Amino acid sequence: MNKTIDIQVKKTEASKLPETDFENLAFGQTISDHMFVADYKDGEWKDFRVEPYAPLDLNPANATLHYGQSVFEGLKAYKNDNGDVLIFRPDANQKRLKESSIRMCIPPVPEDLFMEGLSRLMEVDRDWIPNKPGCSLYIRPFIFATDDYLGIRPSATYKFMIFTCPVGHYYAKPVSVKVETKYTRAAEGGTGYAKAAGNYAGSLYPALLAQEQGYDQLLWTDAKNHEFIEESGTMNVMFIINGKLITAPTTKGTILKGITRDSVLTLAQEMGLPVEERFLAVSELQEALENGTLEEAFGTGTAATIAHISKINVGDKDYTLPEKPLDAFSYKVLETLDAIKYGKIEDKHGWITKV
Ligand code: COI
Repeated sequence: MNKTIDIQVKKTEASKLPETDFENLAFGQTISDHMFVADYKDGEWKDFRVEPYAPLDLNPANATLHYGQSVFEGLKAYKNDNGDVLIFRPDANQKRLKESSIRMCIPPVPEDLFMEGLSRLMEVDRDWIPNKPGCSLYIRPFIFATDDYLGIRPSATYKFMIFTCPVGHYYAKPVSVKVETKYTRAAEGGTGYAKAAGNYAGSLYPALLAQEQGYDQLLWTDAKNHEFIEESGTMNVMFIINGKLITAPTTKGTILKGITRDSVLTLAQEMGLPVEERFLAVSELQEALENGTLEEAFGTGTAATIAHISKINVGDKDYTLPEKPLDAFSYKVLETLDAIKYGKIEDKHGWITKV
């Protein structure tokens, strides 16, 4: 984009702030006052605006409703003690949104439009960023097709929108997971690496079956033989076995390139914990559970942050993991990540964008 970005701002006359209970924030239920919107028409992104959050006017023939041509992101903003707005790694989200868009035939949003739209929205809704430890403003950028057309082809028109929600913890307590060996989340050559709406829709039914059996989430395995652990429904997963941090590599295109995942791997190396990006066989996981060499298991994600895993079901056997002491790696890395995000320690990696 070579022109200056002109964003029109129209503020709400009826803020929901006074009636919002910041002490009880359930994930994704409270939506802030404004949203950023851009339209893709005639081959370019245009009409940039921040306006009051409101329902969309969609026709029943909208292509997204039928064929799911839609991608999204998740990132978070925090406030430091001076009241500055700090956004964690928005450049990484912009890049991933671009990769997802290309896979789904969606025209990528230029970097400056993403950053400017986000910054302007943060300025307008800065009072929505919670001040409490553990709380943040979850930011949901997304792009979807807006053609009204039932033929199968990429839409010619799209909307890029960003809205935000003040949030607390996604998981209030450690999660139980079940190794899935029937259904598949992603196959090589598929859309697994993209943050595409349909990936989540396809995971709901198997996850529901696991929930009916009492588990919070699934541990997905590879599509070919269900032999290796891939990721969980809402997060990447990591295991510490015999003093080494093991997580699935993203090289086969089946794993979401988690930004928290990447941050944790960087910090682990700096903290002296050996990292192995390799596929962990279900049999190796089960052996480690049997012989007590599995030291830690946790998920990583923007919404989930670091989610401890308390129970793993493998091959119809439940393994309960003992509670971790506060000096366990997963606690220490969460503490370090939080300290960076809330501006309490130096941001050595250039992960924070101050608005
Ligand atoms: C995120 O962590 O941002 C996600 O998109 C996962 C979703 C479960 C909320």
